[in-house]
Amino acid sequence: SKGNHRHYMLKEIYEQPIVVAQTLRSYLKRMEDQVTLPIPDFDLGAIKRVTIVACGTSFYAGMVAKYWFEQFARVPVDLDVASEFRYRAPVMEPGGLMIVISQSGETADTLAALRHAKAEGQKIAAVVNVPTSSMAREADLLLPSHAGPEIGVASTKAFTCQLAVLAALAANLARAKGLLTPAQEKEIVRHLAEAPAALNGALAYDEKIAEMAHLIASARDVLYLGRGTDYPLALEGALKLKEISYIHAEGYAAGEMKHGPIALIDDQVPVIVIAPSGPLFEKTVSNMQEVQARGGKVVLISDYDGIQAAGEGCMATITMPKVHPLIAPLVYAVPVQLLAYHVAVAKGTDVDQPRNLAKSVTVE
Ligand code: M6R
Repeated sequence: SKGNHRHYMLKEIYEQPIVVAQTLRSYLKRMEDQVTLPIPDFDLGAIKRVTIVACGTSFYAGMVAKYWFEQFARVPVDLDVASEFRYRAPVMEPGGLMIVISQSGETADTLAALRHAKAEGQKIAAVVNVPTSSMAREADLLLPSHAGPEIGVASTKAFTCQLAVLAALAANLARAKGLLTPAQEKEIVRHLAEAPAALNGALAYDEKIAEMAHLIASARDVLYLGRGTDYPLALEGALKLKEISYIHAEGYAAGEMKHGPIALIDDQVPVIVIAPSGPLFEKTVSNMQEVQARGGKVVLISDYDGIQAAGEGCMATITMPKVHPLIAPLVYAVPVQLLAYHVAVAKGTDVDQPRNLAKSVTVE
């Protein structure tokens, strides 16, 4: 049931601190400060290349994970949407691991990619939310995201739980490759363990986001910008807004604006900038200022320090708790979900059952 919530989507957004904690509990040994994964029947340390394949929101979780696998495990990562993967003659050499990511575990495009890679001799790891699904059964290594049933067509809690699993997998892969000292592993575990409280902190901004929804609800087009792991979040924000509010939205890498899309900017196009303070902050802010110089109306999502440094001149700001960059994608997913949700509610659309969409896409 929806409990006290008006929609399943809102209920599922609010469940995130609990279900992420639940997911982390099965992947972190808090006492020993270690990540712990189900033991695969192959050697993780011998993996030479990772191929991540998924669709929609699950694909964006995979895009975040690519940054982590490369950063921590120094393993080359190939990433593709499942519907394209099979049709581009992908090179799959021995020692390759394919990671499929799927809430339902039944998405036809992703399942077809899994079968294709398996036939090509790849090992398969599946991050799925339905443990009885086809992908779960066909994988060599099953990594469940323990989000519980997700009813809203717009994926929310499945995304943050997928990220929790993928972060643990990245650390595990790094350890298997001998690239992680116990002290570094302990740090990663400590940061991940902070995610549930930070997600709670992010939810505390719900009411303010609801109050600013009208600023977006009247727009015809909206842009989302981010850098690094906030780039996939920009794409995810745009997808959420499109699918439930029917407003045209695009996500861009912040630095890519000047190569074309900035031509779209005028005072009618709100630009959502996702920029936690940290190493990429300055660069993103300078891209944001290019937008503002052309009359663009910016909503800046950052932490207190970031808002202090760059919030002036923005149409609105959203303040997140200050978090380690590793868990920022989980935490910043919340305002992006809430913004889409409240805009859709303001527009009066069917939030849980948007037009033309199904929860599980079982045709290719
Ligand atoms: O069940 P899956 O995770 O494989 O589904 C993939 C996409 O169909 C799904 O994420 C879709 O994009 C959502 N409606 C996004 O909110």
